[in-house]
Amino acid sequence: MRRGLLVDNRAGDIREDRPHRGGHHVHQQQHPDQGEFRKAKQLGAIVNLDDLSHVRFLHEQDGLPELVSFRYNPGPQRTGNVLIGDPKEAKFGFTMSQLREGYKLCKELGVKRFGLHAMVVSNCLNVEEIVETARMLFTIAGQVKSELGIQIELVNLGGGIGIPYKPGEQVMNVAAIGTGVHQVYKELVEAKGLAPMRIVTECGRYVTGPAGFLVSRVVHRKRIYKNYVGVDACMANLMRPGMYDAYHHITTYKDEAPPAGLPPRGAAAPDNSGDLIQKQGVFDVVGGLCENNDKFAVNRPLDPEPRVGDVLVIHDAGAHGHSMGFNYNGKPRSAEYLYRPDGSVLQIRRAEDLGDIFATLDFDAAASKFGRRGPAAALLSLARSLAANPICTAAVAAGVGAALALRLGRR
Ligand SMILES: Cc1ncc(COP(=O)(O)O)c(C=O)c1O
Repeated sequence: MRRGLLVDNRAGDIREDRPHRGGHHVHQQQHPDQGEFRKAKQLGAIVNLDDLSHVRFLHEQDGLPELVSFRYNPGPQRTGNVLIGDPKEAKFGFTMSQLREGYKLCKELGVKRFGLHAMVVSNCLNVEEIVETARMLFTIAGQVKSELGIQIELVNLGGGIGIPYKPGEQVMNVAAIGTGVHQVYKELVEAKGLAPMRIVTECGRYVTGPAGFLVSRVVHRKRIYKNYVGVDACMANLMRPGMYDAYHHITTYKDEAPPAGLPPRGAAAPDNSGDLIQKQGVFDVVGGLCENNDKFAVNRPLDPEPRVGDVLVIHDAGAHGHSMGFNYNGKPRSAEYLYRPDGSVLQIRRAEDLGDIFATLDFDAAASKFGRRGPAAALLSLARSLAANPICTAAVAAGVGAALALRLGRR
């Protein structure tokens, strides 16, 4: 088996100035985007189509690439898992009959090389489930060969290899996946005359997940029906817990010399013993967004108990962390640092500031619509002055929104 890095580009921009050396680049795009397909083709990426209609679209726009791969969705044949969902409810891929039609059409249109892809599990810690995907795809490759005379030369097992987010979970045994896949390869590919077939995966989390940590500081403690630990990070930095109810391990670092400007550690906290619905020592760790799912942990025993000024390190934030971030409530995204083997730390991305958030807003264009006088113009001018001040971005959004509402209301 050849080893190499497969770069999976899902609906992201393709950049020529970031060449992918020494590996393969798979381009997957859910919705037809001529520019992206064209760039992928120019870069020699493996184009993995998500829908039958893309075949004609590509053919008519720029011509189909030399190798065409399709993403298969097994629907009721497989169960999937909580992260990626039940395949029959998932928006991805082709049905089996569409696969047949797609390969047939591509052949008629002159395509000579073919691939097949599926991804039905995510964060999977069960070797058998990944091997099952290989079995499913090798079986389909056999059917495509016997029914259409098309040889599939590339099978992509997708990503989905999980990591041990929870203490006690095992690191996935990738050697066992290799052994299992090799076994079904012998049965369903070699023995059926389908070899050689290149087998690839496109794992993300397995590579990057454990390599990232979200470092946050406790800025608030609150006691009501539950005991809350408020941190200066929020789900804009890591939305997996809020989005999937996902577990991320948290370690407390007792900072004996926290920075100035935080609420005092020893301040008297309200006695909530009469209202508390959770045991003492169990906390919800929360961000400051105006969303009740902005939580990094729910009902989490934390020992030692975090105090204001302590540092909470949230583990396994290297996948679906910063890259899934957003600016809701006007939260600028945090900096990123690279921790190097020699112990040094290098800033590789600066923190955003409010200027970054407003950089794409075109006040002049809005002003030209509102004119110079009247309540809408006055509100816009207020919004503009707020934007120039690091006050409350939500207020700016409200200012622009109100100006628009006034404008529309006058029509
Ligand atoms: C098509 C596809 N390939 C690969 C991946 C990477 O998955 P993972 O990080 O779980 O390995 C994803 C993740 O969502 C995906 O949608």
